[in-house]
This record gives sequence, structure tokens and C-alpha cells, in this order.
Amino acid sequence: MDIAVLSEPDMKNTGDLALQELHKRFPAALDYLTTIFLIDREYGKVANSKLAARLGVSKPAVSQAVGRLKRHHLADQDSYGTIRLTPEGRIYATRILKRHYLIEHLLILRLDYPWDKADDEALRLQAAISEEFAAHLFETFGRPDTCPHGNPFPGSPREKELLDAPRLSEAREGCRTVLLRITEEGEAVEGLLHFCNENQLRPGRELEILKKAGDNVLLGCCEGRTITIPQGYAVHLRYRALQD
Ligand SMILES: [Fe+2]
Repeated sequence: MDIAVLSEPDMKNTGDLALQELHKRFPAALDYLTTIFLIDREYGKVANSKLAARLGVSKPAVSQAVGRLKRHHLADQDSYGTIRLTPEGRIYATRILKRHYLIEHLLILRLDYPWDKADDEALRLQAAISEEFAAHLFETFGRPDTCPHGNPFPGSPREKELLDAPRLSEAREGCRTVLLRITEEGEAVEGLLHFCNENQLRPGRELEILKKAGDNVLLGCCEGRTITIPQGYAVHLRYRALQD
């Protein structure tokens, strides 16, 4: 995968200067664009209510912001209200998302910043860095496929495998698994990343499903320790089953 996926005509419209200008005139635009992209990638459909819930804003606020995105030719809405990015909106969204993931790598791998806090900090920094610096980070970290939480870079060869991976909440008792990712939606769930960090539940960690108790908890075993994982967290963890 090459981070410089944009052709010259794209660069003219969505390069660093255009992105900074958009961020200055419409600060919430980048959050909206990346969130629309991520919901679409995960669920294949973006409704006003889902976007409002993910961004923690009201539905009227979403309608107003989507109206602004439409006026900037960055998003469209069909007659059922489904929101989609235009090709230009998609270029901005993927560019910002890649920067977000690379800043997470920088914070965690080079600056020893806590794994469970890097997402918040990357959100603050993602609009500030240049495409040149992003490309440098991409090479520095060995052209990674995923963010440190296991979410795939747009266009990564592993994107489909990671997006299609089953939810840990659906794993059967006795199943031995390896964790693949904490979804972007999960990263935003209060306390989830902290819980995963405390229990060393990171991508690559092996976990055996010992027992599922009721709707609310799932008991797992991670390197000899037994952990109770709330179902509300387990729905956001994706895994691959290990062969016996
Ligand atoms: Fe992440």
C-alpha cells in the first residue's frame, strides 16, 4: 500500500493547504468526514441518527453539518436520508484517518504515550501535520497495515479480513481466539480502551472463552488470568479463531 494514493488532480483540490483551509473554515468537517467514512466502512450505510450518536451531538446539529458538507461538495444524501461521501470527501476522510493512525503509532511506539490515550490525542493532532510528515511516519513505522488498536488503513491488503472478523461477543464457549482489533466505534466507548489496556487485551493477544454468563459478561482467559469482559465491550472486539 502506498500512502500517496492521490493523483495530481486530487492533490490540487485536497492537498495540505486545502485541508488546512477547510479545517479553519469548518473545524468539525474533518471529524464528520472520518466518522461518515468509518460508519460506512463498518455498516455499509450512514444514517443521521447513527452519525449523531457516534459524534455525541444532536440530530439537528448533524443535519446542519451535513448541509454544510453538501455545500462544500464533500457529501451527498439520498431520498432515504442515507449520507455518503463524494469522491473528494472520501479523499479528505482517508487522508485524515491515515494521519490519525500514524500519529497513534508515533505516540505509542516512540513517545511511550499510553496505548489507551493515544486515540484522543491523535484526534487533536491529526489536522496539524503535513502530507510529507505523514509519508515519513508511514515509512518510519514500516508501512503498517493497521493502527495500534488493530484497525486497518483504508486500502490495506488486510482491510477486508479485519473488517469482516467476528465479534468476541459471538464467540462460542471453549473457543481459542486471537484478538485482531478494537473497533473505531469501540475506541470511543467510555472506559473500553482503558479496560483493554489494564487487562492487556491488545491485537495479537490470545484469549480462550471459558464461559458465557447471561447477556452481560463473558469470561475469558488471557495468559493464565481469568477476565470478565462486559458484553458491551465484547461487541467491539474482533477476533480470529485459532485451530485446535
Ligand atoms: Fe486506533
